[in-house]
Amino acid sequence: CGIVGYIGGSDAKEILLRGLEKLEYRGYDSAGIAVAGEEGVSLFKSKGRIADLRSIVDESIEAQTGIGHTRWATHGVPNVKNAHPHQDVSGRFTLVHNGVIENYEKLSREELADVQLVSDTDTEIIVQLIAKLVFEGMTTEEAFAETLAMLHGSYAIAVIDEEEPDTIYVAKNKSPLLVGLGKGFNVIASDAMAMLQVTDRFVELHDGEMVIVTKENVQIRKITGEAVSREAYKAELDASDIEKGTYPHYMLKEIDEQPAVLRKIIQAYQDENGKLSIDQETLEAINRADRIYVIAAGTSYHAGLVGKEYFEKLAGVPTEVHISSEFGYNMPLLSEKPLFVFISQSGETADSRQVLVKIKELGYPSLTVTNVPGSTLSREADHTVLLHAGPEIAVASTKAYTAQVAVLAILAALAAGEKGNEIGFDLVQELGIAANAVQTMIVRKEEMEGLSFDFLELSRNAFFIGRGLDYFVSLEGALKLKEISYIQAEGFAGGELKHGTIALIEEGTPVFALATQEAVSPNIRGNVKEVGARGAKSCIISMEGIEEEGDRIVIPAVHPMLTPLVSVIPLQLISYYAALHRGCDVDKPRNLAKSVTVE
Ligand code: G6P
Repeated sequence: CGIVGYIGGSDAKEILLRGLEKLEYRGYDSAGIAVAGEEGVSLFKSKGRIADLRSIVDESIEAQTGIGHTRWATHGVPNVKNAHPHQDVSGRFTLVHNGVIENYEKLSREELADVQLVSDTDTEIIVQLIAKLVFEGMTTEEAFAETLAMLHGSYAIAVIDEEEPDTIYVAKNKSPLLVGLGKGFNVIASDAMAMLQVTDRFVELHDGEMVIVTKENVQIRKITGEAVSREAYKAELDASDIEKGTYPHYMLKEIDEQPAVLRKIIQAYQDENGKLSIDQETLEAINRADRIYVIAAGTSYHAGLVGKEYFEKLAGVPTEVHISSEFGYNMPLLSEKPLFVFISQSGETADSRQVLVKIKELGYPSLTVTNVPGSTLSREADHTVLLHAGPEIAVASTKAYTAQVAVLAILAALAAGEKGNEIGFDLVQELGIAANAVQTMIVRKEEMEGLSFDFLELSRNAFFIGRGLDYFVSLEGALKLKEISYIQAEGFAGGELKHGTIALIEEGTPVFALATQEAVSPNIRGNVKEVGARGAKSCIISMEGIEEEGDRIVIPAVHPMLTPLVSVIPLQLISYYAALHRGCDVDKPRNLAKSVTVE
């Protein structure tokens, strides 16, 4: 979910709506804004996208204070009733919330037994509690602090009180929230991107802090009372980075940016002599470890699987890769000197963050690989390595994946170098070759569109198979296809398919087989024969030098360890066109959010 707030001298509703449009990637099943002006608080909520919300907002309302929210449903179905902002029974207090209040049922039973709740959300109890305490005699500020102290769980909250339209009350715990500073106005946002339209100066908030924001002043304090002072930082984002330009979709723009991103990464990690370099402490942290635990979710998890190959084969450090939502609640037996590597495009994924909190409590070192400097996972880990991919807006991750793979290769190679081990090839040169190969694949869009049509036009399902590194790419290919085209797609280790899943192969079932790894190419081709004998329609994706007749896609030759950077491109494009042909919303697929800030 995403939150915005504005207090100042301009038209609040327009700034809030524009902010929400930028935050839509965080969830888009319903949205709402509330503005406070001379005529009291006006509330607008709608199911669906920000465009739907915009169409119901009364243009004529004048208000210079307001809060807004775009939702990714956790408690309660997406409808107007459950959309934020929520109000207390009297309508005096209005609130938006991200996160999950774990004890909301208990609080509702024990503290609000006599209040008729309107929605099915965990959020509503917060605003009802504040109102109850105010009506019992507390000031709004006191009631806000008292309520926060009762909440267990994650939250970023903004509240307005109709009787004080010149103040927004804000608080944060485990969910991201920033305050943006302007001349004669201040803003709040879950992500700087939302408010770059009005300012690039932001103040981070930390867990357990509450803030009183007026148009001239930002007063931060801990819930326990002590005042906090913190300097603002300048967001290093360029507003043009987050525009679609002439592209029909962010996803296509981001696919196209991949060669440039790879080149930018090479540059970013080169020293003045052109040699790869990174800060010494990060390398030492890697080399001190007797085992690396990679923690990630979604596409980042798939990049982590590729990273394991690099850490083990290049740096010689045993590595395990874990899904963050599993790891935190079922920790494996840890080695004596573990290093935790968090891979997260956004740096905000709550599932990953809960692991970071736990392993920090255990005293273990951590490194975050992220695209977002200043993100929660970056701030809270001991070390950060940046992806330099530029803002990724489409929900389906593309350029962040290739950036993650490239940066993990660089990290592993540097860790090897630091120990005095040779990796046996020139990584800078090989990454450059890979960037060119990515470019070559991107130019072949029309061909990929044709293949997508040939293989997927009538399919209900599709399979992706590979072995070794290709297996990990097949997982990512399947994820791309299912998340944006809703075709049921599964990635499998080539050899495993016959142990059950092959039962699903019917006449015409599409199977995308990756065959870029010479050592296992005969095996995967054997698997293609097995599915072919049962009616599957196979598309083999191989590489120059080891291709065979009939392979439908042959990627340019690159170093065998770097094939994931290139073989994923046709899979991204095929998914893109499949979604497009099916009339799906490519950038905002149903039920998903780009950054999942709830566990
Ligand atoms: C969400 C997104 C995925 C992403 C995953 C992890 O589910 O829809 O595309 O891979 O979160 O996100 P992160 O920001 O931690 O990489």
